[in-house]
Parts: sequence; C-alpha cells; structure tokens
Amino acid sequence: MGLMEVREVTVRFGGLIAASEITMDIEEGTIHSLIGPNGAGKTTLFNVITRVIDPNIGDVLFNGESLLKSKPHEIIKSGIARTFQNLEIFKLMTVRDNFLVGEHVNIDTKLTAEMFQTKHIQTEEANSNTKAVQIAEFLGLKNRLNSLTGMLPYGLQKMVEIGRALISSPKLLLLDEPAAGLNPSETHFLKEVIREIKSQGVTILLVEHDMSLVMDISDYITVMNFGKKIAEGMPDQIKNDPEVIKAYLGESKYA
Ligand SMILES: Nc1ncnc2c1ncn2[C@@H]1O[C@H](COP(=O)(O)OP(=O)(O)OP(=O)(O)O)[C@@H](O)[C@H]1O
Ligand SMILES: [Mg+2]
Repeated sequence: MGLMEVREVTVRFGGLIAASEITMDIEEGTIHSLIGPNGAGKTTLFNVITRVIDPNIGDVLFNGESLLKSKPHEIIKSGIARTFQNLEIFKLMTVRDNFLVGEHVNIDTKLTAEMFQTKHIQTEEANSNTKAVQIAEFLGLKNRLNSLTGMLPYGLQKMVEIGRALISSPKLLLLDEPAAGLNPSETHFLKEVIREIKSQGVTILLVEHDMSLVMDISDYITVMNFGKKIAEGMPDQIKNDPEVIKAYLGESKYA
C-alpha cells in the first residue's frame, strides 16, 4: 500500500478524456515522477489529487482514506502541499508574508484567538517566524525575506512558492514543473533542494519536462500520453521503453 493511491481515475472535459482510468501508487519516502508530452493529463491528475477538480470516476486514497470526501481547503491540513505550473505567488507581498500564507493553515485557532493575543498564539507566531527563516536559508532566500516577491529573479520566485508549500510541513509535496524557466545553475540547485526535501522524509510527486533532472532524481516514474498511462517503472526501464520513446518522438520539442 502506498502513501497515496490513485485508483482508476477518469476526468472528462466535455468530449475530451484528460485522464483515463489512471492508477498510480506513490510509495512513502520516494520521489515519484509523472511525465508525458504536453496535454498528457499530468496537471489534471494533480488537480484531482489536490481536490481542485472532481474526477468523473475513481478515487484517491491518502494514508488509506479517500480524499474525495475532503474539501479543497482541507487537503493541506491532511499533509498535501503543491506548487503550480503557472507560478502562483503574491508578487506584491514580501517573501516572508508569502511563506506565512502557507503557515496560517496550520494555526487552527488563529482567527478567534488572535483577537486576544493568547500566549499560545504568540508562541505559534514566533515558531512560524523561526520556520520562515530556516526555510529561507534552505532555499537561498535568507537575505530576501523582506523583499517584495515580484522584484526577485524568476528562479527565486519559484523557490518562494516551494517555501510556501514546505512551511505547512507536508507529508506529500506535489511539484508541477519546478524547473520550467530555470537556468542550468538554478536547475542544479533545485535538484539538491528536492533531494534534501526527500531526505527529510517528505514524499514527492514531480511533474517535469527536464528529462535529465527526472532520470537523475526519480525513484519511480509514471508516464502518461493523451490521458492514458503508457508506462511505469524505474528510470532505467522508462528510458528504454519503446512506448515512451515513441510518445516523446511524436513531439518535435523532444525529437
Ligand atoms: N479545465 C479544462 N477544460 C477543458 N480542457 C482542459 C481543462 N484542463 C485541461 N484540459 C485539457 O486536458 C488535457 C490535459 O491537460 P493537462 O493540463 O492535464 O496536461 P499536462 O500533461 O499537464 O500538459 P503540460 O505538460 O502542457 O502542462 C489537455 O488536452 C487540456 O487542453
Ligand atoms: Mg501541466
């Protein structure tokens, strides 16, 4: 049994089947990559897992419990955090405040207790701030906590989004194309960051087009094409899978 089990998930958009009976087991403590050409259905599956969209058929189990009963805002409390393909951060807010948006989901009592500034809340806020500093150091943002996020280079803005996801201490972290738009040295840094997150016991589901990154860090890979799962296995198996090679050669971008 995996930490997350996607069971026969089908998603239709009108006549288009964006995901067709997708089954995928994500083992705890691994980096599991989900790859496939543009339009394969990868982000659609992320959106099902994070409850942004309902599947037409199928189920998603997390720790053995169906996630479909949860509301979208409860997902993060159950230990799942994500980043988005199109960077979703608050550009007019500081890096620190972007992090704290992610942290507030963990302070259950905040809205009511904050009015009274109880000791409990004061301690929690101090803890949040310590955590924000630690995460900033980890992501190369140590001197940027008070900077406006929109003023940072794009590569650092992407790190801010990862930081916001990490501050909720997720068990499962979903990254949708974290290397897109990064230069080689930023991509190298990202690789180290992902490895370090894994070494801290966080399970990672990674959608990424940078094949050298994927092959280098993945423990397991699921491949989709036109909404269907066409292969799964270890990186060496996937690299040599004729179906996978065919799917990618069909796209000029990869030829
Ligand atoms: N809300 C939507 N309404 C209609 N069609 C959609 C919607 N979201 C996605 N699709 C379609 O579903 C298919 C799968 O899209 P999806 O975004 O999941 O692909 P992807 O694998 O993430 O691709 P990419 O690598 O380009 O990000 C595509 O054909 C897309 O146009
Ligand atoms: Mg996508």
